Amino acid sequence: MEFSIKSGSPEKQRSACIVVGVFEPRKLTGPAELIDSASKGYLSDIVRRGDMEGKSGRTLLLHNVPGLLGDRVLLVGLGREKDFREREYREAVRAAVKTLDETGAFDGSIYLTEVPVRKRDVAWRVRQATLTAIDTVYRFDRMKSKKEEVRRPVRKLTLMVERRNELGPAEAAMREGEAIGQAVALAKDLGNLPGNVCTPTYLAERAQEMARAVGLSCEILERSDCEALKMGSFLSVANGSRQPPKFIILEHKGGKTGAKPVVLIGKGITFDTGGISLKAGEGMDEMKFDMCGAASVIGAMQAAATLKLPLNLVALVPSTENMPGGAATKPGDIVTSMSGQTIEVLNTDAEGRLILCDALTYAERYEPACVVDVATLTGACVVALGHVATGLYSNNDGLARELLAAGDDAHDRAWHMPLWDDYQEQLKSNFADMANIGGRPAGSVTAACFLSRFARKFEWAHLDIAGTAWKSGAAKGSTGRPVSMLTHFLLGRVDH
Ligand code: BES
Ligand code: MN
Ligand code: ZN
Repeated sequence: MEFSIKSGSPEKQRSACIVVGVFEPRKLTGPAELIDSASKGYLSDIVRRGDMEGKSGRTLLLHNVPGLLGDRVLLVGLGREKDFREREYREAVRAAVKTLDETGAFDGSIYLTEVPVRKRDVAWRVRQATLTAIDTVYRFDRMKSKKEEVRRPVRKLTLMVERRNELGPAEAAMREGEAIGQAVALAKDLGNLPGNVCTPTYLAERAQEMARAVGLSCEILERSDCEALKMGSFLSVANGSRQPPKFIILEHKGGKTGAKPVVLIGKGITFDTGGISLKAGEGMDEMKFDMCGAASVIGAMQAAATLKLPLNLVALVPSTENMPGGAATKPGDIVTSMSGQTIEVLNTDAEGRLILCDALTYAERYEPACVVDVATLTGACVVALGHVATGLYSNNDGLARELLAAGDDAHDRAWHMPLWDDYQEQLKSNFADMANIGGRPAGSVTAACFLSRFARKFEWAHLDIAGTAWKSGAAKGSTGRPVSMLTHFLLGRVDH
């Protein structure tokens, strides 16, 4: 889909569809008023008859509206003006783009971007509209033998701004929205692919392909390389699998030489059976999504490279399957991590932390400005926060605040969870330096506590996306979260 920014009155747009908002009850927005006058009261007549009351999410497509250069008018209900917030704004854009995509309109001029949203400027409205539009038309049909045909999908959206001096900031925001939207789509694609396609090898190939396309450098560490680095914890998870593990490294050198990089780490378990501590069968298919942390950092790197962010960035993705094989790690086995710390593997299903800890140690060599890891780490996080908020943990309150703010701006939100030392004692082991599980209480916190032991040398944050990375049920599929939060975070770091 193509985007552009423009300023001008709605009755003068030569477009397949002019999209304007209507507040409840029956109150036309400014651009709708202009169409109304040009058409001698056509819209107010419709609204008066009760065909468009302005209820949030409702749409009404009109043909042959007199006095216009455009072919159609799409009225979009915005709800009550006093209740019109970010959520309603996004819903309106979503409803509009969905309708355009389903009708014959090939392109649209969207005036919703002119509607004020409390505390948000035109750049925010345009960025959100762009990425919401891309997300609305996202489809995953790669694995279907017959593709769903959309007869005339919408190809071009023109986002309208009220004043000419808004054109510059709106164009920059549109480019950000496009980069984020495409990165979200990439992360969704990788997440949605089944485990027999999206193996560690496949993930590494896709990362390399993406890197080549946007000008990142990419290096893949093989099992032997990881052995030489003494990544005993990461490799112990790969023991049960026929698929070779891969440790993916992406680098973006957009900042000053010598400037410390931001390091992103993503959990890349391409399928989590639990290993010898085998999971129950019901819903196990969803463990193909256990590489969504990896997908999100690969996506964020694509966005950062596309936008040529003046930052130095590194992404690290330890990737393997977690399978029960004859050579698999057994409960009670003790492994030595790259840091030298020993770990008693009391449950082979707590494998995410075992691969992330070696990536955290590997990150030390970059002397990072900060490290952010992203992982579908614990079922306990889903119990705590459901499918709304990502769990955020950090050893640095400033970094935590940055990520929370980025999540708010992106509407890809996180909630700050405690990382107090009081929880650390749950990880005590009788035989090794630590156990890999901390018992039932506060399972998401003790997982973060485990990681914190490998993150003492830098500012670090951990995002537990177990509840937010994908949806179950009828709408089963990857959400692409937290690509948008991460990219907003990086955009914020540019003027740091
Ligand atoms: N990938 C899972 C976490 C998960 C489970 C995410 C369900 C989303 C939904 C992780 O590897 C795991 O299995 N964690 C265990 C840890 C436990 C053994 C301490 C869990 O949460 O049950
Ligand atoms: Mn597991
Ligand atoms: Zn897992």
